[in-house]
Amino acid sequence: MPSAHELTIAAPDDWHLHLRDGDTLRAVLPFTARVFRRAIIMPNLDPPVTDVALCAAYRERILRAAPPGFEPLMTLYLTEQTRPGTIAGAAACGFVHGVKLYPKDTTTHSAAGVGDTGKISGVLEAMQRHDLPLLVHGEAAGAGIDPFDREKIFIERTLIPLRADFPELRIVLEHITTSDAADYIAGAGERSAATITPHHLLYSRNALFDGGLRPHRYCLPLPQREAHRRALAAAACSGAASFFLGTDSAPHARHDKESACGCAGVFNAPAALGIYAAIFEQAGALERLEAFASLNGPRFYRLPVNRERITLVREAEAVPRCVAAGGDEIVPLLGGGEVAWRVRR
Ligand code: DOR
Ligand code: ZN
Repeated sequence: MPSAHELTIAAPDDWHLHLRDGDTLRAVLPFTARVFRRAIIMPNLDPPVTDVALCAAYRERILRAAPPGFEPLMTLYLTEQTRPGTIAGAAACGFVHGVKLYPKDTTTHSAAGVGDTGKISGVLEAMQRHDLPLLVHGEAAGAGIDPFDREKIFIERTLIPLRADFPELRIVLEHITTSDAADYIAGAGERSAATITPHHLLYSRNALFDGGLRPHRYCLPLPQREAHRRALAAAACSGAASFFLGTDSAPHARHDKESACGCAGVFNAPAALGIYAAIFEQAGALERLEAFASLNGPRFYRLPVNRERITLVREAEAVPRCVAAGGDEIVPLLGGGEVAWRVRR
């Protein structure tokens, strides 16, 4: 049994990460690379990463910005124009590990996403054949849909039929927010999995309005009621193979968040592992943190577990108040505060 003050685990990976590009990439990547060995890199750049050549070039830019030893696991952005041949090329190239489905107009840079999944059935069939995972932003689009119902409706209308049509396809429902999603994934078989973010484990929707509007806690899908937050914590802390760590760290410039129409995304990379450790500690489940952070993801993605090990110690670590990126500032989750666990250097 680990002591209550120290925990040594296989080095963790982040199975859902936004790094952006240019100055922002260079500013945020060190915070991820200091604790995570690998990360699944989201393709929602502007313009999006829709083919293998764009993806190879983006990977090179990440590697140039990364410290030695960090491995970006790349993804492609699915559009209604994606062709099955692109999938074959992605599966063969060796560095693409998934293809991301953004339902059109649901979140940051999703305008090129998919409005009608009927139009991508040939591509999904190719992904199933090449065993390339589908990574899903699980929200139904439409102005008439209550924002807090979007995940549940997406599961009912889109994910359940898609799961039935492509039974061999590996699917990750990203950043789940509801007990409905946790229950669905727990019962959906070994080819279905979900990532869970630190902010959805830390905050219910109350946190968005805590003493005033809190733009740096705003993300999509929205955090939900406390009962849902508890269901997510139970799923993560269960150690079940279908739930694993994905931070969805999504940096935006301070002025874009603190705006009359603030954009969605929480930059949590500096605090993420400390938050996860605290959630597992509160649940009395520290011995299952390794499964969630370091074992379940590689098993699902069919990659080796990291051989390197890290030791987490129960000592406070300060979270920077803000991070400079080019001429902009980015405000981290818990910025100016601290987390209770840190990695021993
Ligand atoms: O809050 C979010 N921010 N949710 C997403 O799905 C995208 C992300 C981003 O790219 O900023
Ligand atoms: Zn994301």
